[in-house]
Amino acid sequence: MKILVVGTGAREHALVRSLAADPQVTALHAAPGNPGIGALAQLHPVDALDGEAVAALAAELGVDLVVVGPEAPLVAGVADAVRSAGIPVFGPSAAGARLEGSKAFAKEVMAAAGVPTAEPRVVTSADQIADALDAFGAPYVVKDDGLAAGKGVVVTSDRDEALAHALACLDKADGRVVIEDYLDGPEVSLFVLSDGSTVVPLVPAQDFKRALDGDQGPNTGGMGAYSPLPWAPEGLVDEVVAQVAQPTIDEMRRRGMPFVGVLYVGLALTSRGTRVVEFNARFGDPETQVVLARLATPLAGVLRAAATGALDTLPPLEWRDDAAVTVVVASHGYPGSVRSGDPITGIEDAEAIDGVHVLHAGTALRQAPAGDDDAALREAQLVAAGGRVLTVVGVGADLTAARAAAYAGVERIDLPGSHHRTDIAQAAAAGE
Ligand code: GLY
Repeated sequence: MKILVVGTGAREHALVRSLAADPQVTALHAAPGNPGIGALAQLHPVDALDGEAVAALAAELGVDLVVVGPEAPLVAGVADAVRSAGIPVFGPSAAGARLEGSKAFAKEVMAAAGVPTAEPRVVTSADQIADALDAFGAPYVVKDDGLAAGKGVVVTSDRDEALAHALACLDKADGRVVIEDYLDGPEVSLFVLSDGSTVVPLVPAQDFKRALDGDQGPNTGGMGAYSPLPWAPEGLVDEVVAQVAQPTIDEMRRRGMPFVGVLYVGLALTSRGTRVVEFNARFGDPETQVVLARLATPLAGVLRAAATGALDTLPPLEWRDDAAVTVVVASHGYPGSVRSGDPITGIEDAEAIDGVHVLHAGTALRQAPAGDDDAALREAQLVAAGGRVLTVVGVGADLTAARAAAYAGVERIDLPGSHHRTDIAQAAAAGE
């Protein structure tokens, strides 16, 4: 099977790594990819947001499957363009991706499907914002209706901060804000594959969204993750499939927008029961890195079955008994204004540790300047080129071993000014 993966992050590197290990896969391509992905797949400098260009590339390469990783190309209709070219694609249409692209639309679908979630108010004026904040009270939950690259949601007890975020969301073109009840309790991410009708859940993971240890500091795209969740209630996955995933997929099909790809169900296990915090229309990052590290079934056939309406023919997925922990190494300043160009070393040393692999996100190769003879002899240098730079994955017999491996890997990586959390999976490994 020949496959083209669209995207540039550590999630796409994890997908490519799993696909490269699948004996069914004969050729791997990525658009545009990153230097880590380039070690496993042929890279093509195509704009991931340009559906016609991605479809043309897929046709030229004669691939059997296109896998679209990030949300922005999905919302931009890249999967539609590929599907229109007659090529199987893992990823929802632009209409389906509105489950992530519009928080208000997601809430409307949840209401129609009877999915348990926080009661929302969708507001479009400063007066309505103030009323909604006062009606719900602290802690305030304020969500940008549209895509905001992980910066759209603010949860705070500071009313001024909540108001400022809501007004900033409103300031954008077509700005709308969703204000809702705060959901207490631990959060879980569950990815559910869908071919438009049949759903197949993967295993749950937990993400660490705040920048600093102890869940302090600003929100990020995710600073680490682990799986399994020894503390999660038995039957959680079955409950979420029955109460959330299947009704949502059925509702999308009923609306004439069958959802093909992965429905990311973000959950809070509250004192009043399991509630949906958010839907995303793609794999989570960094949760994918730990979920795929545990998947024993070869990935290509699974994704192709979803893309071709054949999930009902798939044998049950097989999972390794191992645990996996991933730690994000972020560049100086992340999640604020980040510094690029710092050299990265130590990846090979990290990967020499049993059970450790390193996935690239914001990395680039800096070529030696042309015309400098000495420099021309030097190899291109791997440098930081984004906020989340690497994710270091540790796999072990249990969470304690997986954590130890991941952090031993992080210790061997040198990136000036970088930072990472030191408490990923700590409480779970301690049985808390
Ligand atoms: N880890 C959070 C996300 O992928 O949105």
